Amino acid sequence: MKILVTGGLGFIGSHTVVELQNSGYEVVIIDDCSNSSEKVLDGIFAISKKMPVFEKINLREKEKVHDFFKRHTDIKGTIHFAASKAVGESVEKPLLYYENNINTLIYLLQEITANKKQSFIFSSSCTVYGQADQMPITEDAPVKKAESPYGNTKQIGEEIISDTCRVDPELQAISLRYFNPMGAHPSAEIGELPIGVPQNLVPFITQTGVGLRDQLSVFGDDYPTPDGTCIRDYIHVVDLAKAHVVALERLLAGKNPQNYEVFNVGTGEGSSVLEVISSFERISGKKLNYSIVERRSGDIITAYADTKKANEILGWKAGSTLDQAMKSAWDWERKIRK
Ligand code: UD1
Repeated sequence: MKILVTGGLGFIGSHTVVELQNSGYEVVIIDDCSNSSEKVLDGIFAISKKMPVFEKINLREKEKVHDFFKRHTDIKGTIHFAASKAVGESVEKPLLYYENNINTLIYLLQEITANKKQSFIFSSSCTVYGQADQMPITEDAPVKKAESPYGNTKQIGEEIISDTCRVDPELQAISLRYFNPMGAHPSAEIGELPIGVPQNLVPFITQTGVGLRDQLSVFGDDYPTPDGTCIRDYIHVVDLAKAHVVALERLLAGKNPQNYEVFNVGTGEGSSVLEVISSFERISGKKLNYSIVERRSGDIITAYADTKKANEILGWKAGSTLDQAMKSAWDWERKIRK
């Protein structure tokens, strides 16, 4: 069965392509390589011994998207990762983010809904909850006003899909709200490739560990948490990738009673910034150079998932520990810096 993966050369996309191919799906990737590289295809091939079809297309080019679907009439499902994701940049360039993340979703859905019986999985984020009032966060927690245009594109994206599903029962969709993805494939053939200075914690730690950065800045240690640093739910990217396969299978099997559903994808465990640093020090045997600095504006204090819905309905559970995820991130970082 043929599945389209947009953004399939990116961090989460590439790991999902591997899991899909390992489960027997035929994958077609669309990616514009704006934040990825065609070399990722070699890594995917090295792991799954299958080369996905790849088309370099920018989804903003509506005619090209239309032409793509005319040529691939046998696609049964789409997993849509392609999007811009830098929170700070989205504040500076809101229109770019709305164009990249919203227009492209609309063009895709226009093509998909022109066909019968289609499955669609959307990359959403726990950012839609903002600072939730209760931990762990369930899917029923209210969506809070977005802190950035990036976060807003995830909220609007979910609404666009939900509204479309309401009028089109042929469209079966799931939004997966990711917590904090980290790590790499254990083979170290694929992983995260941030361009420039990483904004996210784990790649900053591993880059500091290999000497590419002098020091990690810990953004605040005066939060109301046990050690004063912020708490997040860090999920191994391979576990996250597998969640896409089971979500897709639910849609393809028609097991979903409603044609639009949302699921949290996290481990259910919260870890503080200092605990993540300790994990790095444990698995690498190195002391990490870090200092405490001011809080980063826009950071929430604590976010970790209630994973009951995904556990019970999707039959999915994150299998890796923080240390296992950290080890994979560290192996990958050392490999690419050789
Ligand atoms: C960030 C985005 C979120 C996005 C997610 C994708 C912001 C405010 N939020 O989430 O919208 O969906 O990435 O993965 O950018 N930290 C440091 N030093 C650093 C980097 C991070 O102390 O150099 C701390 C942060 O304060 C935070 C934790 O590490 O407490 C995790 O930060 P990060 O990896 O950027 O993820 P989020 O902020 O949770």
